[in-house]
Amino acid sequence: MTLSRCVPPIVFCFAFFIISVSAADDFEYDGRKKCSGCHKSQYKSWKQTGHAMALESLRAGEKTEAKEKAGLDPAKDYSEDKKCVGCHTTGFDMEGGYEIEDPSKYTVGVGCESCHGPGKKYRRSHRKASDQFDKEKKSTPRQTLADAGEEFEFIERCSSCHMNYEGSPWSGTKEPYTPFTPKVDPKYSFDFEKYVRDEKAMHKHFKLTGVFEGPPQPAFHKEFQDTAESASAE
Ligand code: HEC
Ligand code: HEC
Ligand code: HEC
Ligand code: HEC
Repeated sequence: MTLSRCVPPIVFCFAFFIISVSAADDFEYDGRKKCSGCHKSQYKSWKQTGHAMALESLRAGEKTEAKEKAGLDPAKDYSEDKKCVGCHTTGFDMEGGYEIEDPSKYTVGVGCESCHGPGKKYRRSHRKASDQFDKEKKSTPRQTLADAGEEFEFIERCSSCHMNYEGSPWSGTKEPYTPFTPKVDPKYSFDFEKYVRDEKAMHKHFKLTGVFEGPPQPAFHKEFQDTAESASAE
């Protein structure tokens, strides 16, 4: 953006600048209720994952061995601890995301929007594109979804939880850090190419019918679709 059209009064220009910046960057979270209603197959599969159960792991008496090994107190309840919930819920402290004081059951755990991006805006495009496809057999460019905040690269989102620790090779680190680092146990090293193919941790993949077309698409999109199952109606 340019400030060239900014003539005094300066306060006015500043307000204009802020509005343009936030309009471009901030997308609201919405919770998984709506996503799950239209994507029942992915939802059922995701429900079985550790991501879905991630908030449970913070409770006293859960995962006691892992906690001890990482220097945490297994008898302590961490499920309302600000230093923990950010990576064990969806959109913590963001517009529409998880709140400790007023927890919505649709943002508990690492949900759809943790990976696919905050969905309040792009989920409307899914409905619209789907209606258009049914009526006119016309596909919608995927780019419209990316413009509405949908994620197609994934790696930065995964890294913000999995690679966020002191001494991490990832450049975006900031506190609070994960206590589960490769130093605690090499099994906590994050290998994106391997992990993103772990259907037991994401969800199983189901065949898309062509409602969306074109870039952006992750490198593994075709690979997943080639072996995807048909989505069931219920
Ligand atoms: C009104 C129903 C509806 C809602 C609500 C909805 N979707 Fe969709 N979504 C669709 C349809 C229809 C498609 C196209 C499927 C196809 O091509 O067969 C789609 C496609 C997708 C795709 C694949 C995009 C691609 O690359 O082609 C993803 C990922 C997705 N949805 C995730 C979500 C998430 C996450 C939410 C919640 C924030 C959500 N959807 C909400 C109906 C919906
Ligand atoms: C909001 C934070 C967050 C995001 C984003 C996230 N994860 Fe996770 N992930 C977790 C947490 C927390 C666990 C542990 C869940 C538990 O058992 O309590 C986990 C567990 C996993 C596991 C299982 C690890 C094991 O030891 O078997 C895999 C694999 C994984 N994530 C891959 C990914 C990938 C790939 C992405 C991006 C596409 C991703 N995650 C995005 C927080 C996140
Ligand atoms: C920066 C993100 C982040 C923060 C903050 C965070 N975690 Fe996690 N946590 C993760 C990720 C990612 C995993 C999955 C690691 C894996 O399996 O590779 C995880 C896994 C866990 C597990 C399961 C470990 C296992 O081996 O099964 C427990 C328990 C846990 N976290 C507790 C906590 C507690 C307690 C706090 C706060 C003191 C906390 N986490 C803060 C990201 C985070
Ligand atoms: C831990 C990360 C993660 C979470 C959580 C997650 N997804 Fe996905 N999802 C992915 C990845 C990676 C793909 C593959 C994208 C591609 O092939 O273009 C995908 C693909 C999809 C697709 C496209 C069709 C398919 O099955 O591959 C839909 C629809 C979808 N997800 C919906 C959901 C919904 C609904 C939820 C929540 C109930 C959810 N996802 C939770 C990572 C995640």
